[in-house]
Amino acid sequence: MPSPELTALLYPLLRPAHIGLVGLSVAGYAARALGVFFGQAWPLAPAVRRASSLIDTALLAAGASLWWLLQLNPLGPDTWLGVKLVLLVLYIGLGTLGLKRAPTRVARAGFALAALACVGFMVSVAVTHHPLGLFAP
Ligand code: HEM
Repeated sequence: MPSPELTALLYPLLRPAHIGLVGLSVAGYAARALGVFFGQAWPLAPAVRRASSLIDTALLAAGASLWWLLQLNPLGPDTWLGVKLVLLVLYIGLGTLGLKRAPTRVARAGFALAALACVGFMVSVAVTHHPLGLFAP
């Protein structure tokens, strides 16, 4: 259990770091998906893949640290976090299909758009702290 002093110190650092990394990660994914759509080789180059994994690992680490710091329970009452974690798995799956696993260019574009819609909804779930996000009544 983190002390109130530790929470007061780390929360103002971790929250903007998490949000900034979300921005970097999503912008990077969108740029790579566009590159793949236009037949470029750079989106799957080892250096680009490594940079992307590094950003995603830092994003998840900041998220997990916030989770611990705020002592949230994704199974309730903080079900918005539970929904975000389930959607994260979906985002990763759609994201991989959109960049390389889907067989055709059009299918990859469709999965990439679905991945971006999924992550957009995750942002709305996070901001509203509601499992239905932008669809909350
Ligand atoms: C692509 C994945 C993710 C996206 C798009 C995302 C998005 C966001 C955004 C936009 C916020 C700020 C919400 C606000 O304005 O208060 C936020 C906060 C947060 N996120 Fe994430 N997040 C992601 C992954 C994760 C993961 C994997 C975890 C946990 C392991 C996590 C845990 C948290 C927590 C605990 C907060 C703090 C909420 C608060 O300040 O009350 N996030 N997230």
